[in-house]
Amino acid sequence: ELYDFGMIGLGVMGRNFLLNVADDGFAALGTDINEDSVNALNEEGEGMNVKGVHTQKEFVSLLSTPRKIMLLVPAGKIVDAVIEGLLPLLDEGDIIIDGGNSHYDDTNRRYEYLKTKNIRFLGTGVSGGAEGARRGPSIMPGGDKSAWEVVKPILETVAAKVDGEPCVTYIGESSSGHYVKMVHNGIEYGLMQLIAEAYDVLKRVGGMSNDDMSALFDKWNKGRLNSYLVEISADILKQRDDELDGHLLDVILDKAKQKGTGKWTSQTAMDLGVPVPTIDAAVTMRGISAFKEFRQDMSTLYGEIHPDEVALKGDGLAKAVEEALYFSFIICYAQGMHLLAEASEELNYDLDMEGIARIWRGGCIIRAGLLEQIRGSFSNHPKLKNMISTRQFRDELHGCRESVVEVLHLTNERGISTLCMSSALQYFDAFRSERLPLNMVQAQRDYFGSHTYERIDQKGIFHTDWG
Ligand code: 6PG
Repeated sequence: ELYDFGMIGLGVMGRNFLLNVADDGFAALGTDINEDSVNALNEEGEGMNVKGVHTQKEFVSLLSTPRKIMLLVPAGKIVDAVIEGLLPLLDEGDIIIDGGNSHYDDTNRRYEYLKTKNIRFLGTGVSGGAEGARRGPSIMPGGDKSAWEVVKPILETVAAKVDGEPCVTYIGESSSGHYVKMVHNGIEYGLMQLIAEAYDVLKRVGGMSNDDMSALFDKWNKGRLNSYLVEISADILKQRDDELDGHLLDVILDKAKQKGTGKWTSQTAMDLGVPVPTIDAAVTMRGISAFKEFRQDMSTLYGEIHPDEVALKGDGLAKAVEEALYFSFIICYAQGMHLLAEASEELNYDLDMEGIARIWRGGCIIRAGLLEQIRGSFSNHPKLKNMISTRQFRDELHGCRESVVEVLHLTNERGISTLCMSSALQYFDAFRSERLPLNMVQAQRDYFGSHTYERIDQKGIFHTDWG
């Protein structure tokens, strides 16, 4: 008996994805260099049409052709090593799906390389963590279109569903799937940091308890802030630690790790000249958080700031923070979508922006009620670049701006860092400024470097002998 779908890499993600494939009636086969992981699959998959084998040779020989092999292994050199190991065993037309968070440059390279070997490659973003992999992730495949047609029935069945629509669509050529997943993660970084800042305001300005914040987040999650990340934050806030007789969150070290996808989003955005300051700020805050000892020293050196009165308390504060968070969420998605819209042209991905918003509505980490509206915007205006230009978001941003100012006033007064939220407001205010002070920058460039400037009152290129 031959198997329909193969997985290399049986860590939690790989194992869960494969069990999900088997749930859906496909014969699923897995392998891993780690024997325990293979055994774990066989134990968990008992009674199901799933099997773990120990050698790649056996693995490849048991798959029906064209073989459909997904890799869920750590991004980087391991992906290349696994591909090299597979190549001598494969036949022309077989399909390799890299489901990890690979850098899009690597995916481009592998795509071109595997073309020369007549192996079809799909660089594929998979989002939703361990639970998503098991119950239905959001899947972003890019690369060989004919390979997509072959794996489509499997991926559509496995993916999360929203209103019956599967959260998977063919993203585009070459590395587009991994690019889109990378930007998903950039947005993920932004939303996470924004929620963290909202939590900090409620706690340090409002003096709210974790349980009260949990209840508030629960309430928010039932409204326009409805999202996976707000939902899990409500759970996190109320989680207790038995040994501690207190809340677990309070004893978690405030140094955030990162594997690179957020940073890559900022890097490519800089390369393409697309501003994504809220994503940049989230990456930067992870960086600042890592300097724990220096922060301790500086907090001693500069001491705390004690403002006189809390201007806003209780429900008033909660409402302002909700509005500030909603405003910042919109801006964070707007930046990510703007980056995708520009990358679509610059990198020739020809992205279906509406389709991307659609498949992010379920399964993935940034799924949120807002994505339905975002989808609507891109469906009404397929050429849309930045959603802040739409009437719908204009009204919402207008409606919330005052609260952002209010919240930032409170944090600035108290020395509470809210870099991400501030960046959202600043981004918005910069774009709504017809005139920015960059005339000064142009003048300075021309002053010291004869870099020339243009004028608003005359046409042409000018240079002045300044001073
Ligand atoms: C997802 C996530 C996932 C990512 C983690 C960790 O969509 O399921 O984006 O792919 O690996 O979020 O990322 P960091 O370690 O960089 O925080």
